Amino acid sequence: MNGNGDACKVASAQIEVQNVTRVYRIPGQAPVFALKDCSLTVEPGKLTVLVGPSGCGKTTLASILAGYDTPDSGRAIINGQPIKGPGPDRMMVFQETALWPWMTVMKNTIFGPTMSGRLARSEAEKRAIGLLNKVGLQECKGTYPARLSGGMQRRAELCRALVNDPAVMILDEAFRGLDVMTRELMQEYLVKLYEDTGMTMLFITTEIEEALFLADRILVMTNLPGSVKKCVEVDLPRPRDFHVLASQRYLEIKAEVMEALYEEGAKTFGKLNMLDFPGACAPAATQG
Ligand SMILES: Nc1ncnc2c1ncn2[C@@H]1O[C@H](COP(=O)(O)OP(=O)(O)OP(=O)(O)O)[C@@H](O)[C@H]1O
Ligand SMILES: [Mg+2]
Repeated sequence: MNGNGDACKVASAQIEVQNVTRVYRIPGQAPVFALKDCSLTVEPGKLTVLVGPSGCGKTTLASILAGYDTPDSGRAIINGQPIKGPGPDRMMVFQETALWPWMTVMKNTIFGPTMSGRLARSEAEKRAIGLLNKVGLQECKGTYPARLSGGMQRRAELCRALVNDPAVMILDEAFRGLDVMTRELMQEYLVKLYEDTGMTMLFITTEIEEALFLADRILVMTNLPGSVKKCVEVDLPRPRDFHVLASQRYLEIKAEVMEALYEEGAKTFGKLNMLDFPGACAPAATQG
């Protein structure tokens, strides 16, 4: 465990972010430094969780790693090669559902690799069936997304990403907006998928408990402009289930992450000028 981004480096990185800065410039407004000198590494075969306050630059970073956006300075690297655009080696799952409503679950799942010619239809279907079974959607192959619950849609999206057999999965607040019970179920599905496949994952969240339950390693981000403030190894046993939530070690790691995160949260609230809120400093009403 340590307190700076540089020391979060690992020898065999699958993803490496080197001093990335991304500034949003809107004419007539002050530039927004979403990321500044942000460095981190994601180890192969590990589940790394990036946790940070809302608005600290997490999605900006995810977009750069996806190849949808480019840094103003610094570099993002996958398997030793600079990221120059989207690629099948990285699959993204975002908060908003991205299933095509006019396609069944099966068609949604196999569309990408069959259209690009990476997989023959029969091979794609075979893989899709295996994945859909794994996440409990075996009965939904012919169902359209509108007939699925929120949790089922997220599971279908996971399959749609995994069918490409990506080197890395990047999930940006993929379970945000789900009710608590569905979210916990989705976390269990994801942990099981990860433990079965051993694939490299970067999961982005604002939720400490979610981070702890999933992660091998948690990277805590600073407030805006975003960079990595602290790196915490999560040495909780695997295979992981809800029993870890009651362990002493879980509570110790949680306290460490909370301290770092709340320090950043406090800075955000410190920046808010309470005088801007109407009535915030109004004199107390006198009685009688
Ligand atoms: N396209 C854009 N143009 C201008 N500013 C932007 C743009 N996208 C993001 N920002 C700003 O950059 C900062 C970081 O945004 P980003 O979406 O990366 O944060 P985040 O950590 O993902 O937040 P959340 O947890 O709420 O999803 C915010 O201040 C946001 O307003
Ligand atoms: Mg975001």
